[in-house]
Amino acid sequence: MSGADVPAGLKELLRGYTVEVLRRRPPSLAEFAVQHFTHVWEQQRNDQNNKRCAGCQGVTFDAPRPRRPAEEDAATAGSTSSKYSRRKSVCAEAYDPDEDDEDDEDGPEPRVVHPKTDEQRRRLQDACKDILLFKTLEQEQFSEVLDGMFEVLVEPQEHIIDQGDDGDNFYVIERGVFDIYVQTDGAGLCVGQYDNKGSFGELALMYNTPRAATIIATEEGALWGLDRATFHRLIVRNNAKKRRTYEAFIDCVPLLKSLELSERMKIVDVLGAKVFRDGERIITQGETADCFYIVESGEVKIMIKNKTTAGQADTTEVELARCGRGQYFGELALVTNKPRAASVYAVGDAKCMVIDVQAFERLLGSCKEILQRNISQYEEQLVALFGTSVDLKH
Ligand code: CMP
Ligand code: CMP
Repeated sequence: MSGADVPAGLKELLRGYTVEVLRRRPPSLAEFAVQHFTHVWEQQRNDQNNKRCAGCQGVTFDAPRPRRPAEEDAATAGSTSSKYSRRKSVCAEAYDPDEDDEDDEDGPEPRVVHPKTDEQRRRLQDACKDILLFKTLEQEQFSEVLDGMFEVLVEPQEHIIDQGDDGDNFYVIERGVFDIYVQTDGAGLCVGQYDNKGSFGELALMYNTPRAATIIATEEGALWGLDRATFHRLIVRNNAKKRRTYEAFIDCVPLLKSLELSERMKIVDVLGAKVFRDGERIITQGETADCFYIVESGEVKIMIKNKTTAGQADTTEVELARCGRGQYFGELALVTNKPRAASVYAVGDAKCMVIDVQAFERLLGSCKEILQRNISQYEEQLVALFGTSVDLKH
């Protein structure tokens, strides 16, 4: 075939794929090709949308992180939007999910399916069963999410996300420990850690903003990724529904009264909803904490292990308090970094909004004063119960 017969862009396209294969060494070339070219195609559509969006009021930004050589190769070769070569800039307009809950004028977007073995699917389902962002999805949407996820193996010290980059994927942790760094005034501060569970990378995709933190694997691990387009189609559109469902309720939660409406909506975007059956234990005294709860309906009771006169823990529990609609619990261990101070049980069926520790710290920082005030009340309650002074804060 003469050079003139080769369609424009083909060589660059194949070169980009080859570079990524050599770099990532994927187990299945065919599956990797589907992922890679889907992303190239998605990127081209994004570029077209960005052109259409050129007159919008938002700013465009360039990823500040210097690109690594292999990424440079991929970028010149037409680029992918996968984790393996970072997305180019997107239009960073403020995002309103309400404007995005219908199908495009071009019709429904294609469903992305990454084939999985039974064993992979089982591992994936297990990793996703407690992911809060998936808790308010319909069953059909949830299976689409599972279909769209792809396995990513990570190495120690690998940067999964770099602060300032554009968002490509959302990640669910199957295994591994991941440090969270936030850069302020030029210095990177470790603000938390994901320990073998949880998810990250939703913010840049939800709000079209640069990545807000750097996530680094501390050991070998495994993640499940969900590409930006599928995340938008399923999770961000579901957020529009969630905002409508929870707006009135969240407005009358006393703890959140001091927050701006937009801050309250950000809480709604990341919360999960869980129903607990009568008598079900929601929190176990002594366990490590990773969530905060607000009662949406029903009632819960706070129980603490009794003490014998020798000060040793008894197996019986005494009731400390009850919480009803709009009241919260499970903040103490998050604020003090200590194990859970009491157990919490549903009284009748109870529905709670659940917020993970990372979102709690990010979004409820300004409510800390109110939270601290309540802790002093807990201490007084415990003194009245056990007759000895109690310091819950230190
Ligand atoms: P995103 O901004 O897309 O990429 C970095 C991710 O880190 C972010 O989404 C959150 O999922 C996660 N994260 C965890 N803790 C924080 C934090 N304190 N500030 C910002 N992002 C955080
Ligand atoms: P946490 O310790 O995370 O989990 C148990 C929760 O019970 C605790 O947070 C508080 O939200 C709640 N609680 C209510 N009353 C008390 C109390 N007197 N002492 C400790 N925890 C209390």
